[in-house]
Amino acid sequence: MMDCVVKKEAVSPLQTQNNIFPDGSKISRLQRNERFGHQSGVLWLTGLSGSGKSTIATGVEKLLFKYGYLVSILDGDTVRSGLNSDLDFSVEGRQENLRRVAEVASLFASSGHIVLSTLISPQQQTRDFVKQVVSHNFHTIYIKADIEDCIDRDPKGLYKKAMAGGIEHFTGIGQSYEPPPNPDLLIDTSKHDTETCQMMLKDYIIEHFFLK
Ligand code: ADX
Repeated sequence: MMDCVVKKEAVSPLQTQNNIFPDGSKISRLQRNERFGHQSGVLWLTGLSGSGKSTIATGVEKLLFKYGYLVSILDGDTVRSGLNSDLDFSVEGRQENLRRVAEVASLFASSGHIVLSTLISPQQQTRDFVKQVVSHNFHTIYIKADIEDCIDRDPKGLYKKAMAGGIEHFTGIGQSYEPPPNPDLLIDTSKHDTETCQMMLKDYIIEHFFLK
């Protein structure tokens, strides 16, 4: 199990002990950013299932891709279908899920990508940890939605199933979601339509990643 309070170091004593020596690329992040015409980094979208994380991210990804930007999505359901298919939804399972995605997001960002990660990430302590893992140009984007709206939308039928007792630890039903107290951007999908929400994120990225 990971320890959320351990500070990440470039080369830990454990790595040295195991004869592991991470080697850097000869191409700097700045060189990559100049090549692609924008900064790279991670936008960590957090929110309840059904809050609209994936809908917003896929719309924005499409737009930015059309403009020629290097942009990728790391989605919870997708990573849990492959890389993280061995993990459950216990607190420990979620922590490990998020730790791995943060490491992958960090690699993508180092390669010049604007990464949109869309995972529930229900705990503040784990979000603090993933921010530390990514360390550079990390943005917390809170996709807020009233739980009643998520239950109404229920695009995957999972709230219905969870309320009938069919899913253990379902976020918002059997397990709590802690809203981020100080997100870099809050998008309330109970208040705004899809297009407005997508524009809010797109505008934020253009402002903070200095896209031309
Ligand atoms: S996280 O909590 O570890 O961040 P993640 O975003 O990867 O969750 O996965 C959430 C997705 O897994 C949901 O959108 C839903 O489709 C599915 N899922 C299956 N079981 C659960 C559960 N117990 N709680 C939340 N989501 C679940």
